[in-house]
Amino acid sequence: MFELKLEKNWYDAMYKRSSVRKYTAAPDKAQLDRLGVLCRKLSWQGVTVRMFKGPGFKSAIKGTDVYAVIVAKRGTPMEMEGFMGEALVLEATAMGLGTCWLGAGFYPDIINKNVNLQNDEVVHCVIALGKAELPAPAHKRMPVEKLCGKTEEQLASLGVWQKEAVLAARIAPSAINLQPWTIEAEGSGVAILERSTLIKKYAPLDRGICMLHAAVGAYHAGREAVWKKVEGGYAMRA
Ligand SMILES: Cc1cc2nc3c(=O)[nH]c(=O)nc-3n(C[C@H](O)[C@H](O)[C@H](O)COP(=O)(O)O)c2cc1C
Repeated sequence: MFELKLEKNWYDAMYKRSSVRKYTAAPDKAQLDRLGVLCRKLSWQGVTVRMFKGPGFKSAIKGTDVYAVIVAKRGTPMEMEGFMGEALVLEATAMGLGTCWLGAGFYPDIINKNVNLQNDEVVHCVIALGKAELPAPAHKRMPVEKLCGKTEEQLASLGVWQKEAVLAARIAPSAINLQPWTIEAEGSGVAILERSTLIKKYAPLDRGICMLHAAVGAYHAGREAVWKKVEGGYAMRA
């Protein structure tokens, strides 16, 4: 589960990325072709990722009409939608594109019609893609200690890969920046677990995004993550 060939350049992309809502143009043909190839690679384990060009956004997104739709078979853990979608986000970022996850910022009627949504499928989010108008603002995130109860030094003494995984997980995007997770870093693993928040609608999808970041962080330190379901989330060994 959560098997995916990670790319080395996703690490820098994680630290560069932030949500873009104003674009100067849609991705060009070569970029769309590249994203199309990646979408096919990301379409398994219960999720299909498909690119579209045309109407679908509400008013917050300006200057592009290109988006990826994450279609999930009912019964697929929602984390998978975040995991695969964020891989697309990081690849697009590495290609120099801007992106924005959208849970509320699209018209479901249009999107569901575009993807010819079946009864056993569901769409929770789409991802806007285009050439960014503005440089990315800095991330505002929970301090590391609040997130996992350890300082960066304490994390590094566990293992470099655990420190990299936690720092990468920390900057993962989430719906309204709720960061609905706590992170447990212990001797041999890192777990991404639920944190109680008022709005829970996207929390499992957010967790999947956070898991991909943790995996990319660990990979940067030379380790490949293997995920296991645990109470309240997922734990990774690497
Ligand atoms: C699941 C999900 C849903 C989101 N939905 C929206 C949305 O409907 N409209 C919007 O403007 N931003 C949306 N965002 C973007 C978040 O607001 C943004 O990721 C968060 O505030 C962190 O900021 P950053 O991405 O710039 O680091 C969504 C993000 C996620 C992960």
